[in-house]
Amino acid sequence: MHAWLCENPIGVESLRWTALPTPEPAPGQVRIKVHAASLNFPDLLTVQAKYQVKPPLPFVPGSEFSGVVEAVGEGVRHLGVGDRVGTIGVTGGFATHACVDAAAVMPLPAGFDLDDAAAFAFTYGTSHHALVDRAALRAGETVLVLGAAGGVGSAAVQIAKAAGARVIAAASSDAKCAFCRGLGADVTVNTGRDNLREALKAATDGKGPDVVYDPVGGELAEAAFRSIAWRGRYLVIGFAAGPIPALPWNLALLKGASIVGVFWGDFVRREPKAFRAAMAELFGWYAQGKVKPAIDSRLAMADLAEAYARMGSRRVCGKLLLLN
Ligand SMILES: NC(=O)c1ccc[n+]([C@@H]2O[C@H](COP(=O)([O-])OP(=O)(O)OC[C@H]3O[C@@H](n4cnc5c(N)ncnc54)[C@H](OP(=O)(O)O)[C@@H]3O)[C@@H](O)[C@H]2O)c1
Repeated sequence: MHAWLCENPIGVESLRWTALPTPEPAPGQVRIKVHAASLNFPDLLTVQAKYQVKPPLPFVPGSEFSGVVEAVGEGVRHLGVGDRVGTIGVTGGFATHACVDAAAVMPLPAGFDLDDAAAFAFTYGTSHHALVDRAALRAGETVLVLGAAGGVGSAAVQIAKAAGARVIAAASSDAKCAFCRGLGADVTVNTGRDNLREALKAATDGKGPDVVYDPVGGELAEAAFRSIAWRGRYLVIGFAAGPIPALPWNLALLKGASIVGVFWGDFVRREPKAFRAAMAELFGWYAQGKVKPAIDSRLAMADLAEAYARMGSRRVCGKLLLLN
């Protein structure tokens, strides 16, 4: 097998495409022949030792991938050789093969595309947990999605629409806004040009969005929170812009609003039954055509450095795939 090996977590430039012995699955594991892996924001952080989880060295990065089960370890019941699967974790995906704990591997429903499976659970799982579970989004409410052209943002636009909400998508260029309208957004705001507060007032008759989905943080956060509707819910998803915002608490009081933290990884670990129910709903929406990952481009697994460069410089709309 081959894998992108990280021996020194100082950035993507230290990764090497390395020949390794093909591993046999330990008890409780399966070996997957990797079809495709997608890039998620934490993959940028992991190879710089900036992510909250720091894998022991050396490691193979790649948090989300799809493929076919090739070998099954002792004690694994729900998977067999030949099964088409998707999996999420922290490492392993940027390779031709990977051994993974079977508990983290999902068999795919019939008709689920293997490319889509490499770009689904992380982003759609996060956005479903955020909007449906944590924000209890209701049909007819208005959702503002910041970073709406990104991975989790594009999933949030589709999920909010599937839940019957009106979606205002914010992104940093006209091209990204056009992409968001293609995903189903009702209104877009170009945050590279427009004043966010004014645009939100105009789009909501002064009422403000009921729910704000924020994977970006930085300077947009306070403007978005100041715009939120009475009884609004502000979903703290991530800080792609870098700085972690600080808010005056009186803003929450004045709007009767909630700041709601979202940590999908821990939700999966702590509430496996609720996670499975959410994935079942998402698989159903996928089968009905209500959600489908927007694939920005498909690169060869060998082009990992290019994929990292594009994501790091905000040039991706939706998801980037790396294919074997
Ligand atoms: N809480 C959770 O459970 C959870 C789960 C998954 C992901 N996340 C977090 O969500 C965030 C987004 O992840 P993602 O995979 O969707 O990433 P992504 O595809 O790269 O999208 C991030 C978006 O953030 C915006 N952005 C603004 N400033 C940026 C900067 N300096 N660098 C990069 N992007 C910037 C970009 O949109 P514009 O150019 O339009 O501004 C970009 O499209 C990350 O912080 C990630 O860790 C959290």
